[in-house]
Amino acid sequence: MSSTAASPAPRPKPAGPAQPIAVKIFHWLNLVSLTLMLTSGLQIYNANPVFGGRAGWHFPDLFILGGWLAGGRHWHFAAMWLFALNLLWYGIYLLMTRRWQNRYFGTNDFKALQTGKNPKRKNYAWHRLTFTLVIPVLLLALLSGLGMYKPVQFHWIVDLFGSWEALRIVHFMTVPVVVVFAFVHSLLGLKVGGGRLTQSIFW
Ligand code: HEM
Repeated sequence: MSSTAASPAPRPKPAGPAQPIAVKIFHWLNLVSLTLMLTSGLQIYNANPVFGGRAGWHFPDLFILGGWLAGGRHWHFAAMWLFALNLLWYGIYLLMTRRWQNRYFGTNDFKALQTGKNPKRKNYAWHRLTFTLVIPVLLLALLSGLGMYKPVQFHWIVDLFGSWEALRIVHFMTVPVVVVFAFVHSLLGLKVGGGRLTQSIFW
């Protein structure tokens, strides 16, 4: 008898999570445009700090882009187009593919958070809640920025927020919110899907 008992074929590795190329592009452009907007925004802030007037606390050179006020403004407005157009096409993509219906926080996540017993499912619901909530924050950053840039043409935006100074504060406060979001969102992504999920959103 031959001893060629067939050894079992190696099992194929389960495929990792896959993200549509559109989502990867959206993610990359978000990271690039937000980094440029944030650092150039801090340069503009330094010229006239929101809190404490001209003598208020200034951000160190390491975190700012543009070299001087006008340089910061040029970078800020240029990156704004990248940021805004990226949000626009992604919004259209979400609507056209109906991705918003299954990708974003919904009633199932709400139930999982309220009555669910599965901690993994709960973490996933938190993850989806976090990246769902950041979308209105990004839109708020855009709207408040637009109102500050053209307060006469967009006086209704200024009226909505009460005053130009209130707009400045809201606009500035979107920065720490987005920074904290990026941190929490990265941690939750790692928690629910490990390094493979995180890798899948970029490559
Ligand atoms: C501030 C910048 C960021 C914004 C605005 C953002 C926003 C989003 C949004 C809206 C989604 C859902 C996209 C979709 O499925 O259509 C998402 C997914 C994801 N993001 Fe981010 N993100 C940012 C930064 C990051 C960073 C820095 C990481 C990791 C280091 C990360 C990791 C992920 C992962 C892993 C997913 C996939 C979630 C899943 O498939 O369950 N993101 N992000």
